[in-house]
Amino acid sequence: MHWRSDNSPGLRRLWLVSAWTFVLAAASGALFRWGMLSSFPFDLIASNIRHGHSHLMLMGWATPALMALMAARWPAEGARQVNASVCIVGWTAWALALLSFPAFLLYGYESVSIGTADLPIAAILSGMAIFAWYAYAAIYFSAHRGVRRTPAIRLWDLAVGALVISSVGAWAVAGLMFAGIDSPLWESTTVHFFVDLFGGGWLVLGTLGILRSRLELPDSINERVARVLIGGAVGFVFLVGLPRLHAPELWPLFGSVAAGLLAAGLALVTRKLWCRDDLWHRRVLLLLAVKIAMLASLAFPPLAEWGLRAGLRLFYLHIAFAGFVTIGLVVMAREQWGRSAAGSPSMWLVGTVALLVTMIPLTGLWPRALAGAWTFQFVFVGSVVATICATVACTFATLSNTAMERGKPPT
Ligand code: HEM
Repeated sequence: MHWRSDNSPGLRRLWLVSAWTFVLAAASGALFRWGMLSSFPFDLIASNIRHGHSHLMLMGWATPALMALMAARWPAEGARQVNASVCIVGWTAWALALLSFPAFLLYGYESVSIGTADLPIAAILSGMAIFAWYAYAAIYFSAHRGVRRTPAIRLWDLAVGALVISSVGAWAVAGLMFAGIDSPLWESTTVHFFVDLFGGGWLVLGTLGILRSRLELPDSINERVARVLIGGAVGFVFLVGLPRLHAPELWPLFGSVAAGLLAAGLALVTRKLWCRDDLWHRRVLLLLAVKIAMLASLAFPPLAEWGLRAGLRLFYLHIAFAGFVTIGLVVMAREQWGRSAAGSPSMWLVGTVALLVTMIPLTGLWPRALAGAWTFQFVFVGSVVATICATVACTFATLSNTAMERGKPPT
């Protein structure tokens, strides 16, 4: 493998703008926590803020950032460099996510009167972003056509496949809405299918592929087995998270089996990645290990049910997305582009740890006897710390980027 890496300013700028979008989305998370303490400003409601936050994090931060960083690594894996097309698609995906944010905050999935029509404006804008994902998938597969499949490329193949397949869930959510079908089972099935495959497939596997592209070791049988387990299981894990009240009895059991297989596959890849002797690389893997441990526990149905009742789903999602994916992207962006892209990974890590630790008292992991009104203040403080840390890191990165683009040595 040759270590030619791409340092295109276009991809780096896309990454940095996505990182600023994290700041905005994190601030909306802090606003949600503030609203739980007192009341929501401007007549906003909790569910709309949650939709705005989660869409902006997934589609305005993690997706364009991953698109840019993956594309910057392609040449090192022997694929064609296609920065201009990736930038067009990445900026489009980012702009649509940003435009849909105020619409989600104000109206959620509700329809709004525009002229003579009633339109669910936020859903329409975020639905349009899906076409940018398809364009990215087309660019990815054409840049990798005929290229020898390295372990990193195989993980990316799975990630981009998951991105495309997860979109079926997003279309199904919209389809149910337009058809006026009011079924709690199908609503939760389509939402869980989308979020779990999009997050656990596209974001987690895409980030893993970038980490793998930094490890100069050949493919192994363990890794091949891991990819089969991951590819076979990742699309079915959502079944374990479905509300028991509505889901047929067998579905969560299938989901438990899939969770066990996926955890085994991810553990095998993590073991291989651990060979790289780099402190930050290993910190990222430790975050992944926590996610894998939680996923493995879902393989035991009584534990899975307890976890759902104990409100661990939200904690699990944030370990995966704010922990492994976010810190993984920041560490890899710094390796790719230096401080001008991401600022200090330590700053990001402090924010993430504050976010995650302060979420624990809201879950069943915390003894009920020790809980109280303070838990809401605590989790609010954690969300503010996370927002401030990301703001500081992005400010330094932007100053450093500006100095570099003006030809001065970065600070
Ligand atoms: C660093 C700052 C973050 C803060 C302050 C934060 C805060 C929050 C809050 C307050 C909620 C709603 C909780 C509830 O319903 O009780 C939430 C939900 C959510 N967050 Fe975050 N979060 C952060 C990072 C992230 C990241 C990095 C991602 C993904 C890339 C993410 C994705 C989500 C998702 C998908 C949900 C919705 C879960 C659901 O509805 O089931 N968050 N977050």
